[in-house]
Amino acid sequence: MDIRVDETGSRGSIQSFYAPQDAPRRPVIDRAEGIWMWDTDGRRYLDATSGPVTTNIGHGNPRVIAAMEAQARKVCFASRALFENAPNIRLAQKVSALAGPGFEHVFVTSGGSEATEAAIKLARQYAVAKGETGRWKVLGRDPGYHGATLGAAAVTGDPVTDAVFGPVMAPMPRVPTPFTYRVPPNHDAESHARACADALDAAIRGAGPDTVLAFIMEPVGGLATGALVAPDSYYSAVREICTRHGVLLVFDEVMSGAGRTGTFLAADHWPDARPDLVTLAKGIAAGYTPLGMVLAPAEMVDAVVASGGFLHGHTYSANPLSCAVGEAVLDEVIDRDLMGNAARMGAVLREKLTALMEASPVVGDVRGIGLLQAVEIVADKATKAAFPPEANAIARLVALGMERGLLLYSRSTAGGRYGEWLMVTPPLTITPEEMDEMIRRLSDTIDAFAAETMA
Ligand SMILES: Cc1ncc(COP(=O)(O)O)c(C=O)c1O
Repeated sequence: MDIRVDETGSRGSIQSFYAPQDAPRRPVIDRAEGIWMWDTDGRRYLDATSGPVTTNIGHGNPRVIAAMEAQARKVCFASRALFENAPNIRLAQKVSALAGPGFEHVFVTSGGSEATEAAIKLARQYAVAKGETGRWKVLGRDPGYHGATLGAAAVTGDPVTDAVFGPVMAPMPRVPTPFTYRVPPNHDAESHARACADALDAAIRGAGPDTVLAFIMEPVGGLATGALVAPDSYYSAVREICTRHGVLLVFDEVMSGAGRTGTFLAADHWPDARPDLVTLAKGIAAGYTPLGMVLAPAEMVDAVVASGGFLHGHTYSANPLSCAVGEAVLDEVIDRDLMGNAARMGAVLREKLTALMEASPVVGDVRGIGLLQAVEIVADKATKAAFPPEANAIARLVALGMERGLLLYSRSTAGGRYGEWLMVTPPLTITPEEMDEMIRRLSDTIDAFAAETMA
């Protein structure tokens, strides 16, 4: 059988498929280094997305590549049923030390959706181990995002996902997300957040407190909410409500964790609202290998182990190669103080995005923490009206960015019902010069868009 292909990767009619199918053809990636990426036509792009919110330490990191090679030469794979492996043990110890008290155990997965699944199953088994077998409902926020697999989709607040996949999963109850820019009439951000926390309390009561297992939320929003940060009071209110009802609080830190907000966990910004479980992925291996994890307290894992062990696992869970890469990424983050850089450069980014918002007729809001920020795009700053769906504003901005050698990541949640935004999430390694260049290209892109649409 002849399976020879064109080695340049040029495309014929047979291709692997990506979503969305009708998207314009994308450039073919050739190579990448630091914050820069090159396509096979030699065009260079500055990655303002960390592609997306993943390549936290930039591309081509020599230390990670060396660790990957060294581990590959030793052993790439060994079944967890037969062996433990040192990179997994070391990675778990380092993550646990960084996460602090309450996260003594780490269950390693191959990505964020798997981490959501594992967190839900661990929480459920803990309840069963304690004799609370009636607890199974996992409340989520609408909108929110926790992954693409069916269990993760069941707790993801997305009406399109529910409409299409609802029959083959069990969509869970949702509570409103405390947006701060668009708030209902007669509310400010603070009172709306209070109402959203009250809605959680009411939802737990309505579902029957003894049937509710957990509440899952992104402490700093990702794509679904455009880096949303709720008022501080929301986090302590949610913690108090969950504790009062015996409901586990799960922070999905797939996007916000691993140093992106300037602290190892975004949860560290709200010390009086510590979650019971945390999920990580994306930045934890920074795109060098698929990796995710669930951080859990000793008490929970001990109870599950005593009841017969965690009924969960994937072939690639905790494989030595991914764990060695994760460990090298973490060492790089610590040794180069990349969390400190995220905090410092995050403050610079906020200043520059705020100036951009003040100067631009189409930027209505800037939000986020550290290097997890977003700008909201509006047709009218006075009324906060979004562009009509047929304007395809966000897709157009991404295309204009691409023309200017700038990679952007965007979303219009639920067809624009909650607004539209561009994530601004460069690698944590970003330098002041790279920041200036990124902002120059971003302003240029937004100006071009404004000129087009406001003409
Ligand atoms: C907050 C959040 N949770 C979970 C996921 C799912 O992670 P993955 O795509 O690695 O399965 C994502 C991915 O974007 C995410 O942003």
